[in-house]
Amino acid sequence: MLKEKYLHGFSKTEQERLMRQARFLENYIYTDIDLSSVENLLEVGSGVGAQTEILLRRFPSTQLTCVDFSESQIETARAFLSENPVAKNRYEILQMDATDMDFNANDKFDGAFLCWVLEHIPNPVKVLSEIRRVLKPGSVVYLTEVLNSSFFLDPYSPNTWLYWKRYNDLQYDMGGDPFIGAKLGNMLQSVGYSNIQTTVKTIHLDNRQPGKRAEMINFWADLLMSGMPNLIDSGYVEAETAEKVKEEMKAVAKNPNAVFFYSFVQAKAYTS
Ligand SMILES: C[S@@+](CC[C@H](N)C(=O)[O-])C[C@H]1O[C@@H](n2cnc3c(N)ncnc32)[C@H](O)[C@@H]1O
Repeated sequence: MLKEKYLHGFSKTEQERLMRQARFLENYIYTDIDLSSVENLLEVGSGVGAQTEILLRRFPSTQLTCVDFSESQIETARAFLSENPVAKNRYEILQMDATDMDFNANDKFDGAFLCWVLEHIPNPVKVLSEIRRVLKPGSVVYLTEVLNSSFFLDPYSPNTWLYWKRYNDLQYDMGGDPFIGAKLGNMLQSVGYSNIQTTVKTIHLDNRQPGKRAEMINFWADLLMSGMPNLIDSGYVEAETAEKVKEEMKAVAKNPNAVFFYSFVQAKAYTS
């Protein structure tokens, strides 16, 4: 039986990992995101507030309304943001299900932002249609989502490949979609968004950037480990395989010719 409905779980370690993840990937994610003309932004699946902090910092004239269905994520986000002067009087966080949000049609929002969220939701198209319902016409929506089939690591690490396959299987079986990035264009089109643009962003690190590569490999090892309790508990991975993954990731980190490659997909679209 699957114990959690969320692959990574809601532990303190996982919440800290989300904070590190947001900062670590900030430059990859935000290079092409411009929300400076948005007055009221809706952030869906705001988690521990890690992206919220970046959004508030990067777009100082934007007010944020954040939505997440996890009480523990919301509590952490509130504690985190309350300490940040940039956030003062500029955000609210509401507990809601993104597939059925408690906002009026064409509410106050003129933009929406989602990052690493649709991949966990069984009905992502419903989320997109809810966002379209509550945003004003002509609003911009930015999505950033995974494409887990793009992951490549050298040297060859057979237990890590097996583990990654099972990690994605578990996410699928929990109702998520680890390959959703490639489908964003279709989904947005199916619920009537216009002017849809998608961009594939690739993190390709080799001997040309050894420092960044080392950081990325450590970051990725943490990501793999974050799914481990659920993968072992639900019988998707043997504890022995999980131990071998840790060894392989350490070996990759030490290898002077290691290669890391991963692509994710960003979409920008408008409500009409
Ligand atoms: C991987 S986290 C990403 C958090 C944040 N966007 C970030 O990048 O740090 C996914 C978040 O989506 C939330 N979530 C999942 N399904 C949801 C739903 N149906 N409605 C609202 N939030 C949901 C989870 O509680 C979790 O906080």
